[in-house]
Amino acid sequence: MSEPSAKKVRKAVVPVAGLGTRFLPATKAVPKEMLPLVDVPSIQIIVEECVAAGIEEVIFVTARGKSAIEDHFDRAPELEALLARRGKKEDLAAVRRLTELARFVSVRQGEPRGLGHAVLCARAAVGDEPFAVLLGDDLLDAEVPGIRQLIDLHARTGTGVVGLKEVPVGQEHLYGIIDGERTAPRELRVRKLIEKPAPGTAPSRLAIIGRYVLPPEIFEILETTPAGRGDEIQLTDGLETLCARKGLYGLEVEGQRFDVGDRAGYVLALVHYALRRDDIRVEVRAGLEKLLRS
Ligand code: UTP
Repeated sequence: MSEPSAKKVRKAVVPVAGLGTRFLPATKAVPKEMLPLVDVPSIQIIVEECVAAGIEEVIFVTARGKSAIEDHFDRAPELEALLARRGKKEDLAAVRRLTELARFVSVRQGEPRGLGHAVLCARAAVGDEPFAVLLGDDLLDAEVPGIRQLIDLHARTGTGVVGLKEVPVGQEHLYGIIDGERTAPRELRVRKLIEKPAPGTAPSRLAIIGRYVLPPEIFEILETTPAGRGDEIQLTDGLETLCARKGLYGLEVEGQRFDVGDRAGYVLALVHYALRRDDIRVEVRAGLEKLLRS
């Protein structure tokens, strides 16, 4: 195991350059990350997790057709002036607050060559320091922000950390699965990462979810990682090398996880976040009960 790293995790890379094909036709013109959970786009929930975890700078890895994400966190002078004129103080505060959440940086991924390649595109923006990676597909509703839980383990171990969740029996083949040695109730030293193991062959049910804290060494590894499954540069392949060279920990993240990259997962997340809202909870609950009875 490496020496604990003294460097604070200040930056988060959020790849949003994927094509979002599972949500067509909605994602033909609207980025998947802008699909709302009630009135908040999922990307905002991700950014708020970063901010609550002490991240200062969010680096979006974007692509053509994704400018709505940058606009969402940018000033909107005309809209702000209109809301001010109409005395809509709450809306104005909500719109202004977005721009002040963090420092926002965008880098482009010219073509979707895989998650590993997307992370590599952020190399110059990250520099020589450990950083967080959050995927917008995984929303975590947790008391301690999900990425904060990983940052705390990284501070103790100095190594890279991947977020894990136990998946139901029979679903292992859909995920990257970890084999490792338990070091604490929710922590493992990773021995092996197996991307989408053939049914019945997985060594555990611990699946990698979209939360990582990585040392800057991952960039030189990704630089020489050949394209793998789907002819894409896979982050999991880079993590294998990182694990062998510098060690890697897995952390079973506490909190409720929603896979909003999946249609049913998105609907469940929408219902979950709606039921947490004081302004619409009663109406939504009553409506759901009626729907379920019909
Ligand atoms: P996914 O494969 O789940 O997202 O990648 P996708 O390609 O957008 O969606 P589908 O599968 O076609 O519906 C996981 C995350 O990695 C990003 C995506 O934006 C998503 O947040 N990603 C993936 C990139 O930024 N670049 C890539 O080349 C691939």
